[in-house]
Amino acid sequence: MKILVVGSGGREHAIAWRLAQDEEKHEIYCAPGNAGTLDVATNVAIKADDIEALTAWAADEKPDLVVVGPEAPLVAGLVDALEKVGVPAFGPVAAGARMEGSKRFAKEIMDAAGVPTGKAEVFTDAVKAKAALPSYGLPVVIKADGLAAGKGVVVAETAEQAEAAIDDMLVGNKFGAAGAEVLIEEFLHGEECSILAMVDGENAVLLPSSQDHKRVFDGDKGPNTGGMGAYSPAPVVTTDKLPLIKEKVILPVVRELKKRGITYRGILYAGLMVNDENSNPHGPLAKSGSTVNVVEFNARFGDPETEAVLPRLGGSFATALLHAATGCLKDEDVVVNPETAATVIVASGGYPGAYEKGKSISGLSSSVPSPSSIVFHCGTKVEGDEIVTSGGRVLSVTGVGATLREAVDRAYARIAGISFEKMFFRKDIAHRAFERS
Ligand code: AMP
Ligand code: GLY
Repeated sequence: MKILVVGSGGREHAIAWRLAQDEEKHEIYCAPGNAGTLDVATNVAIKADDIEALTAWAADEKPDLVVVGPEAPLVAGLVDALEKVGVPAFGPVAAGARMEGSKRFAKEIMDAAGVPTGKAEVFTDAVKAKAALPSYGLPVVIKADGLAAGKGVVVAETAEQAEAAIDDMLVGNKFGAAGAEVLIEEFLHGEECSILAMVDGENAVLLPSSQDHKRVFDGDKGPNTGGMGAYSPAPVVTTDKLPLIKEKVILPVVRELKKRGITYRGILYAGLMVNDENSNPHGPLAKSGSTVNVVEFNARFGDPETEAVLPRLGGSFATALLHAATGCLKDEDVVVNPETAATVIVASGGYPGAYEKGKSISGLSSSVPSPSSIVFHCGTKVEGDEIVTSGGRVLSVTGVGATLREAVDRAYARIAGISFEKMFFRKDIAHRAFERS
């Protein structure tokens, strides 16, 4: 198949890499890609948010499939535009991508579909929002409605923090139009996990569970990031929960969207809060003393979850993506290998705040692929005959092993051979899983 992957991060490198592992050989392109995608694809110099240029490329080149990585082009209607030129695309149309692009819309769909989630209200007026705060207790969660580059959620420990977040968004316009509506949401207790479901408009097949590490420092300390590591499977998602998540979370959303004329195809990513103590009252999924609530939906593969999940998939990945994109996905399209995988993000000093770019990276040896560890590039580019850093998250190093311990050790062993000035990474990826065992 001829396939275009849209995006330039570790997620897109992992998608292109996994396509290259299929038995059938594909012609893979990546727009714009990075220094790592060059190993498995031809980079096309078009930015991921340039809908017009991407659509023109697809109309000319007629790929069999376009796989869209990031949310911005989905929300901006890339898949709608590709549909118009007759190119199948893996990813929802803009109306479906609102599940990620508008937290208010996602809540509306969840409420209509009876999907378990925290109680929330929407406000445009700061005075009214603050008046509502006491009924939520503490901590309380304040969310900007729209896309705010992962920064639009404040978990407030005190009333002052909550009020300041409301003022920042509704009075100070901190996130512009994305923060013109604000949700106040009940704080959910428990352990988070990510479920990526492949959806074909009607049916869904769940990919293996995973868990992200959002805080920048060991012990889940410091500010939130785009994700500092992930592992799969996540033991918090016991196998008895998977069919329930499909029946009570994923499929009701797909059906509710369909009812509204929106055919959702692509990944529906559910960020879930699992509470094993059953202390949360909102729990239609309650089973064996645990509840599951939706924290958020995303309209795409997670990053870095994808770098931990895709190395575990067998079978033909291209066929699974194409079947989802064209409405004929089957359970057999998703083959899961029994191995475990762990991904550690190697970042630039200062991330998620300011950081320097252009640092030369040594020890990548990307031309020697090892079956037990893979170096995915997140923020890299070629400069002369060197590969240099070009982002905050630089590499996503995945270890694969029979046990989680083996997978984690292999990721760290691979990182030990890599260096660039001011690089850092978390040393405790998968700690929650180890604490359970
Ligand atoms: P979101 O962008 O909605 O995923 O929120 C970012 C992060 O904030 C989540 O991954 C959670 O760690 C946290 N968060 C969001 N909503 C809640 C909630 N209702 N209760 C507890 N934590 C939350
Ligand atoms: N890792 C979180 C996300 O992709 O949104």
